[in-house]
Amino acid sequence: MLIKSIHAVSMCYKELAIIPVFENDQKNVDWLEPIDRNLYQSVKKVLDSGDMKGKAGSSLSFYCEEKPFERVLLVGAGKRRDFTCEKLRRLVAGIDSVAQSFNIRAYTIFVQPLLPFPVNNYSAGKATAESISLSRYEFDCFKSKKEKNKKELNVRLFGAPKGAFQNGLHDGAIIAANVNMVRNLINTPSNELTPESIADRSIKLCEGNSRLTCTVMDENAMREHGMNGILSVGKGSANPPRFVIIDYAGENKGKPIVIVGKGVTFDSGGISIKPWNGMEKMKYDMAGAGAVLGIIKIAAELNFPHHIIGLIPTAENMPAATAYKPGDVIAMASGTTVEVISTDAEGRLLLADALHYASDTCKPQALIDLATLTGACMVALGNKAMAIMGNNKGLIRRFIQNDEGSGERVWELPLWEDYDELIKSETADIKNVGGPGAGTIIGGIFLKKFVGKNIPWVHLDIASTAWMDNNEKGYFSKGATGAGVRIICEVLRNWDK
Ligand code: BES
Ligand code: MN
Ligand code: ZN
Repeated sequence: MLIKSIHAVSMCYKELAIIPVFENDQKNVDWLEPIDRNLYQSVKKVLDSGDMKGKAGSSLSFYCEEKPFERVLLVGAGKRRDFTCEKLRRLVAGIDSVAQSFNIRAYTIFVQPLLPFPVNNYSAGKATAESISLSRYEFDCFKSKKEKNKKELNVRLFGAPKGAFQNGLHDGAIIAANVNMVRNLINTPSNELTPESIADRSIKLCEGNSRLTCTVMDENAMREHGMNGILSVGKGSANPPRFVIIDYAGENKGKPIVIVGKGVTFDSGGISIKPWNGMEKMKYDMAGAGAVLGIIKIAAELNFPHHIIGLIPTAENMPAATAYKPGDVIAMASGTTVEVISTDAEGRLLLADALHYASDTCKPQALIDLATLTGACMVALGNKAMAIMGNNKGLIRRFIQNDEGSGERVWELPLWEDYDELIKSETADIKNVGGPGAGTIIGGIFLKKFVGKNIPWVHLDIASTAWMDNNEKGYFSKGATGAGVRIICEVLRNWDK
């Protein structure tokens, strides 16, 4: 394994010793004296000089005069009382990024100064492993010359707690590897990643695991189910739509937890075409679908006990002579009729059929959907949180309780009945656009109409967090983030607690 905990100096990588330093606490290195006197003396001298004040983001490196360690990197951890799980992620990402710039193959982090961790030890271990693996991600599948910028440096953690922290390290590595798999899918352009290839990749993902089963509906099968929402969105494209069903049979029998992800492989807007500016980014409109694949894979690899079903309605939204048009009325799988006001509000049409299928066929104990549904979500929250809406306080609370531990924030928006009138249509039962305000809420209000009675449901609008334009968190490079995977997995892992 890339990251390993050790408890003897003899097992440390000696090329680089990394020591976190808190602000206002920067002279406190007494813990190091019994571990290694030479290292202690070099570090003490530098800290006493006042050159390293522990400010978050700062670092200072120097060569040691005496063996065994060759060099030292002091990294600022900020104020101890402000230290959170997210700060730990950023700290670790920062450490790895500085270490990447050195000519080394491995390094050792001394964990002692960070103890006790700001969150439980499991989350701290998970955060550490995730952060290293997420921050080393590079998307170079489409570069003809692969110039790897990031090295697979080995990491040793000295003095990390045993038990839960180690489990966290283990799970974090698996989770992050799959988040990176999801990021690859999302970053893949739509000429390569079509609805059919999402279906093929789903089938591949299930191969060789008797607990995973994949079923793919083509257009004929969807017609039989009356899934005219999905079919309409896909009508204008040369790449036909699909509906993917993945079943993970955890040990516990019983009602499944169903997770639905929006899989629009490219969203041009259709006849209500989007402006050219930034349209290339609309390859990320299948981020929800990608997340579903990642979550199912993690559930299988971490042996989650529950029955989980992933549903992916997937289509390409294009303008064409065959495309659906504003003014069209669609009879959805549920029987509800929808007047199309904008062909660019396509995600809710796909999801509606999938939510109806989930309610009607899967009889879920809980229903979760995630989608890059509205640009308004970015207006409301920036890229700091995804929006959460739903019909069940308990289910929403599960997400709120797991956001710090997972590293993904959620913020609740209301789905009051007052908003219902905004999507009333003169011609059909409802229309697919309301407004002008409350864009994200209206998306949720629309979806709610397709969720079965008494089924606990939440909708995550991940348009805000699924894509980063820069690396402001430290562990995400520009591009897809794999939003939703980490928080949903954390909710699932803590389901029975
Ligand atoms: N996929 C978009 C939402 C989106 C926009 C995600 C920007 C990420 C970044 C969605 O299909 C869409 O186009 N929504 C419209 C809805 C409107 C027509 C009611 C939007 O947000 O403009
Ligand atoms: Mn759209
Ligand atoms: Zn879309």
